Amino acid sequence: MLEGGRVESLASGRIPRKMPRVSDEVVIEVDGRPVRCAKGSSLLNALVNGGVLIGTACGGRGICHFCRVTVTGATTPVSPEEQRALGNLLVARGMRLACRVVVEAPLVVSVPPIRGKGEG
Ligand code: FES
Repeated sequence: MLEGGRVESLASGRIPRKMPRVSDEVVIEVDGRPVRCAKGSSLLNALVNGGVLIGTACGGRGICHFCRVTVTGATTPVSPEEQRALGNLLVARGMRLACRVVVEAPLVVSVPPIRGKGEG
């Protein structure tokens, strides 16, 4: 028996919860650093879980618009709320709201620095 009763899980053909399948994992490049995340997760969650400092005041509900990032790669379509929040120019430049993007494939992401109180 392996630790934590893994033998039973493997013998039954089920994959233990703590062992992600390789095909369900996506590696995104964030400011030159690889960040692994589960396929289908929100980009905001992927960044936060990867230790990336990113602004959010609404908890990922698409309200605060603090989670702006620039994304290159195959992403989910720009939502109407992103279009309204960012406008045509920023959307055309690849800017997205990280909380509205679902990671389905490798992406290259640039996260702007968080501005402090009193900064422009
Ligand atoms: S976290 Fe607030 S809009 Fe994305």
